[in-house]
Amino acid sequence: MGSPSGPTTAGPTSANAPDGAAPALGTVQFEGFSAWFGKITALHEIDLTIAPQSVTALIGPSGCGKSTLLRSMNRLNDRVPGAAHRGRLLLDGDDVFARTMDPSVLRQRVGMVFQRSTPFPRTVFDNVAYGPRLNGLARGTTLDHVVETALRRAALWEEVRDRLRESALTLSGGQQQRLCIARALANEPEVLLLDEPTSALDPSATQRIEELLYELRRDLTIVLVTHNLHQAARVSDRTVFLFDGRIVESNQTRALFTAPRDARTEAFITGRFG
Ligand SMILES: Nc1ncnc2c1ncn2[C@@H]1O[C@H](COP(=O)(O)OP(=O)(O)O)[C@@H](O)[C@H]1O
Ligand SMILES: [Mg+2]
Repeated sequence: MGSPSGPTTAGPTSANAPDGAAPALGTVQFEGFSAWFGKITALHEIDLTIAPQSVTALIGPSGCGKSTLLRSMNRLNDRVPGAAHRGRLLLDGDDVFARTMDPSVLRQRVGMVFQRSTPFPRTVFDNVAYGPRLNGLARGTTLDHVVETALRRAALWEEVRDRLRESALTLSGGQQQRLCIARALANEPEVLLLDEPTSALDPSATQRIEELLYELRRDLTIVLVTHNLHQAARVSDRTVFLFDGRIVESNQTRALFTAPRDARTEAFITGRFG
């Protein structure tokens, strides 16, 4: 990203912003962020910066708060009765919970893909066109182009180019999951959240998604919850180990897996609990 020469056009998208400049687009910052469901404290005082143009993996035993951390980033927990939070959560310096932050706009900037692929029972085309249409992109060549671009970025175009008018539900599980990724990408998000996106898929479909995430991180912030430690090690740049709602360790993936600093991290990655 960014041009090595020519006029200085380095805006907020520059990954090498000079000191004092706005952070690169797609930067997420948690500052003393806690979250509750009724009396349950799901997250305790999280401090974490998630960098753009990288894959960050969230790992930890079931119930440790991975999904809550992920879902905070596009305010999906807002819909849960009894959900509350404290502390700050910033996207590119904007307060995610500010009154002026429209959750539907936020959810376009921060796309989400779930474990169970969730295509709408409509055509392949309509699934991907859904967001752009909501934004007023009606029909015609521009919409066609947006849909094709999103499907290409999701590495699905070649498989569905002749099936755009078929129901999305006729696609295989792996294709449906890539369709959900394409649907998110059609909104041109800054951040893509994925909650155990491959746990219902076979190994070859899983591999395709992993390769795709590795590719997409060139121009997106990717946050991946996975219970597959090999997957975290393969595709992520940084890994965050959560335990009991707290960050135990956050580091470059290679360092975290080869030289964990905390005994609990070591116990978890060597399979002694989880
Ligand atoms: N909708 C909810 N209502 C009540 N408690 C919840 C809800 N979602 C999560 N929790 C609780 O919050 C804690 C963290 O859950 P979660 O973030 O889903 O963990 P993980 O994704 O790591 O398995 C757990 O104690 C869980 O029971
Ligand atoms: Mg979860």
